[in-house]
Parts: sequence; structure tokens; C-alpha cells
Amino acid sequence: MTDDIAGQSSSLVPEVARKAFASSSNYEKVRQGYPADAVRFFLQNLRLLDDSTACKKKVLELGSGTGKFTRVMLEIVNKQNVTVIASDPLEEMCKEFKQHQPDTEIIQCTAERIGLLDASIDVVIACQCFHWFANPTALEEIHRVLVTDGFLGLIWAVCDFSVPWLARLWEFMAPLYKEKSIVCPYDEKWKDVFSSTRRRLFSDLEGNLDYSLSFPIKDLHDAYHFFSSLSVIASGNESTQKSFRQLFYKVIREEFEDKGVAFEQVPFKIYLYWCNKIN
Ligand SMILES: C[S@@+](CC[C@H](N)C(=O)[O-])C[C@H]1O[C@@H](n2cnc3c(N)ncnc32)[C@H](O)[C@@H]1O
Repeated sequence: MTDDIAGQSSSLVPEVARKAFASSSNYEKVRQGYPADAVRFFLQNLRLLDDSTACKKKVLELGSGTGKFTRVMLEIVNKQNVTVIASDPLEEMCKEFKQHQPDTEIIQCTAERIGLLDASIDVVIACQCFHWFANPTALEEIHRVLVTDGFLGLIWAVCDFSVPWLARLWEFMAPLYKEKSIVCPYDEKWKDVFSSTRRRLFSDLEGNLDYSLSFPIKDLHDAYHFFSSLSVIASGNESTQKSFRQLFYKVIREEFEDKGVAFEQVPFKIYLYWCNKIN
């Protein structure tokens, strides 16, 4: 890993992501974690929990952020022959990561320019971030660092916007994804990249959408802070943020307080996908 790659990586991230993830400590505080049962199933399908694995496996996690997924993964692979290298393009994220996970290596790089050797990684994982780099350059780079038949695993925890009160928030947010040209994890547009490269790089995606998570929220303001940390709101101007705040408290009043229903959790769906490098 050269200093050149680390130094340039922040500037290669689109401004909207730099703005949205500028406060790594806030991200750590307000965002949800990942359910261990879904992560275990995911890692099993990436062949990382196979006791018979004789040789050490190397995992590269892209866009690790503060390490919310990494910590769950490390707990699960604890006794396996697995080494995890985390990564993130933003310096602030890498620093925050180190505070929580001092013994895990983290490198500062984008998915488009990883800076590790060819065929040096058994499994590449992207948690809650592949949509930020769903482009042919990143896919070629992931393919380059993977060993023959290596795995690419993708996981998202996505608010269940089919729930009526969340659907009202989604109505506000959906047009912002279009306006800011952010590939949205919800509509699976990110899948298009797999058919957009010059040659086919990966096998067909396999997946599982059966897992869910109920993220407990202690009070309504925590819930507001969670939603306002989502990229389309966090990177928005003052007027967007103000309108979202008004809408959020209106929805809560009408859907919970006026109906005498207690607000306790945000329902999520867990999306899991995996595929293999085609050589
Ligand atoms: C929503 S956060 C997910 C963080 C962490 N994986 C988690 O689940 O909490 C998205 C992360 O993707 C990273 N990211 C954005 N663009 C990227 C790129 N081009 N290459 C790699 N990571 C990127 C951001 O810096 C951010 O930390």
C-alpha cells in the first residue's frame, strides 16, 4: 500500500459521500449494527466457516467505515483460520475504526484503487457500501485482487420501507437519490454493473433476503438522528434537512403519538449476495 493511494483516496470519493460520512463518530453513534445470525449465514456461504480449511484465508472488507460489520464478522470467525484486512477511503473513518478495533489492520483506499497484490485475497466483502462503487473500475479492481474462484460478498441492512410510516419517509427520500445521482441500494440498480464490464468477471449473484433486524431505538430523537445520517439527508442543504426534520416529527406524531402506539424500533431487511471470480 503506497502513501500515494492513501493520500488520494478521500478525494476520489464523490463529494456527496464525503459530506454524508464526514462525522465518523456520529456514524458510529447513530447507525445500526448487523444481526449475528445473518452474518454467520453470509460467512458460511463465503466458505469462511469451514473448519476443514487447512490454509489461512484472507478477507478484504471494502468501505468498512467505523467497523460495525467488521466487529460482528470478527466475533464469528474468531476461531477460524481467517485474517481480516479492513479498508475505507476516508481518513476519519479509518481513525474511528482503529479506536474500536486497534488490533485489526485497516488500509485507506477506495474500491477503485485497492493497492494490494494481484490474487492476494480469498474473499472481498462490501457491507452497506457496494452501491457507492458499483462501477466497472471497482469491479475490475476487486477481480484483480481476488484469487482464482475467490468470493465477492455483498450485504446491506435496509430500512423496510414497505412499512407504512417508513414509506412516508421514503417518499421524501427517493427523489433525492435521483437528484444526487446516488445509486440506491434499495432498487438494486447496483446489479447493472455486473453486466457492464468488457468481459464477464463474476458468476451469477446468489442471494438470500430472508433475514431481518429490528433496530431498537431508545428515544425519538435517536431515531431522527439515525434517519438524518442517511446519505441523501446528511449531504443535503439546510432546507432539505429542515424539511426532513419537520416531516419526520409529523409522521411520528400521526403514526404513533396520535394513535397511542409506542415507538420502539426501526424494522430492517437484510440483503445478502455472493458470487465467484471468473478467471
Ligand atoms: C454506509 S457506510 C458503511 C460503513 C460500514 N461498512 C458499515 O456497515 O457500517 C459506506 C462507506 O463506504 C465508503 N465508501 C464510499 N465510497 C467508496 C469507494 N469508492 N470505495 C470504498 N469505500 C467507499 C464510505 O467512506 C463509508 O465509510
